[in-house]
Amino acid sequence: MHSLCGRNPAAVQAARAQLGWHSATTDWHELVESPLIDIVDINTPNDSHAEIAIAAAQNGKHVLCEKPLALTVKQAQAMLAAAQKSKIVHMVCHNYRRIPAIAQAKKMIAEGALGQIYHYRARYAQDWPADPEFPLVWRLQKAVSGSGANGDINSHIIDLGRFLVGEFKEVCGLTHTFIHERPLPEAGSKGHSYPGKAPRKMGKVTVDDAAMFLGRFENGALANLEATRLALGRKNHIELEINGSKGSLYFDFEDMNRLKFFDSTNPPDRQGFRDILVTQQGGVHPYMNNWWPAGHIIGYEHTFIHTIADFVNACVEGKPVQPTFEDGVRNQRVLEAVEESAKSGKWIKI
Ligand SMILES: NC(=O)c1ccc[n+]([C@@H]2O[C@H](COP(=O)([O-])OP(=O)(O)OC[C@H]3O[C@@H](n4cnc5c(N)ncnc54)[C@H](O)[C@@H]3O)[C@@H](O)[C@H]2O)c1
Repeated sequence: MHSLCGRNPAAVQAARAQLGWHSATTDWHELVESPLIDIVDINTPNDSHAEIAIAAAQNGKHVLCEKPLALTVKQAQAMLAAAQKSKIVHMVCHNYRRIPAIAQAKKMIAEGALGQIYHYRARYAQDWPADPEFPLVWRLQKAVSGSGANGDINSHIIDLGRFLVGEFKEVCGLTHTFIHERPLPEAGSKGHSYPGKAPRKMGKVTVDDAAMFLGRFENGALANLEATRLALGRKNHIELEINGSKGSLYFDFEDMNRLKFFDSTNPPDRQGFRDILVTQQGGVHPYMNNWWPAGHIIGYEHTFIHTIADFVNACVEGKPVQPTFEDGVRNQRVLEAVEESAKSGKWIKI
């Protein structure tokens, strides 16, 4: 934990002192150029990911970058090329891969517990900007965020689909903006939150509120994904169901220590969704050796700890760690295809 970077000198110093970093700066160039730094973790809004990641890679730093990797496929490809050229370790922070229940689902699918996969159905729903008076923060501005619900949250369930089922082959998408104008925020607003009420000077919303798509995977499975920020009552609702020829899996992020499994090879009189509490130590459930005795549940923050632990170990060992920038490029291709399809009304090949 060498150096922390932010825009506001007083705020970044306060964060440094509170969190125990060695130093703080308001200029990210200092970090990517410092010989004392090995790893750069990019948590800025989406429009600066590419510039910082490419500069860090050119200086030989390993890079962990937040999702969506970039604003466009082209930008993501440039990031991947810079990372490959410098032979650094690169990773996109799709932290949901490292929920123990999701890692357990991956293991069960790889072992054939579901048989041939028929369906991947995923929903990511939030409601933080549902009030039309909620201001035009950066997540609602295309120039900064690239897209709306599509890049912000669809990217996560696209990543989980690629992780658990396989590569997308083609998509047919629908995007929509329900609230077209919002109050402009004052300087200092954040991506999700806004302190108090914004003044009533209005600005144009340039991103989607909702993005949905149907798709096919290369392995023949069908996909059905929905991402929305206007689902009142849904705060950070992520729901997945995967159906195969032998069984099904169901996951609900609001109950993230559990994985539901239907096994059609069980005797017919006792078939039903089994409730696996994914907290067993002793190598039984992924990541849980590092935490509490069985049944002592973990939460959202642990998914980032798992991500960072895997990333730092990969840097120390000089090995690749998934999801790489190549995964980021593939994800971005699906995001762009959804937008292209939504515009043209046509199916788009990935
Ligand atoms: N993996 C996840 O589940 C997850 C969750 C939330 C956010 N994110 C991603 O993290 C990123 C940040 O989102 P957020 O909600 O934390 O945004 P935010 O607006 O709350 O915070 C962004 C931070 O970046 C800093 N910053 C902006 N420009 C900078 C610059 N030029 N130099 C130095 N610092 C700068 C700001 O000072 C602020 O501290 C986005 O890419 C977002 O998609 C990912």
